[in-house]
Amino acid sequence: MALLNILHYPDERLHKIAKPVIEVTEKTRSLIKDMAETMYAAPGVGLAATQVNVHEQIFIADISEEHNQLQVFINPKLISSSGEEECEEGCLSVPGVYETVKRCERIIVEALDKNGKPFRLEADGFLAVCIQHEMDHLKGKVFVEYLSSLKQSRIRAKIKKRQRETL
Ligand code: NI
Repeated sequence: MALLNILHYPDERLHKIAKPVIEVTEKTRSLIKDMAETMYAAPGVGLAATQVNVHEQIFIADISEEHNQLQVFINPKLISSSGEEECEEGCLSVPGVYETVKRCERIIVEALDKNGKPFRLEADGFLAVCIQHEMDHLKGKVFVEYLSSLKQSRIRAKIKKRQRETL
């Protein structure tokens, strides 16, 4: 297992579109293990492969307090969505930034698990928000892109300032 390097917004590589996983193999599972270790260490509730510079359709989520309910989504597809909700979101690729984003309240998603087995999941509340956020990463979209361009440039300035300070 290893901790992976997380790309930080506005890194261009966060805008790459992830390709479907052709076959779920040991290599996929080993990546997922590393992603889980990286997410728990951060700590975060979700992590997409895009964020660790692997451009395959894989993301993980664990919204439990005990960090013992890891959910793996490979080649996720949104089957249906309904309702609307606003939730404050953060992202390991945009450290220290929390902003409110409008999402669907309920979703049904289909994906493969870490053994390549298909499953269907109905989610609402925070898990639904988390899944939509991670699915966006696979499409090359970071949550701050839902904000006004003024807010986005403020966030970029804040991140640059912090990067300079930590050098
Ligand atoms: Ni994120």
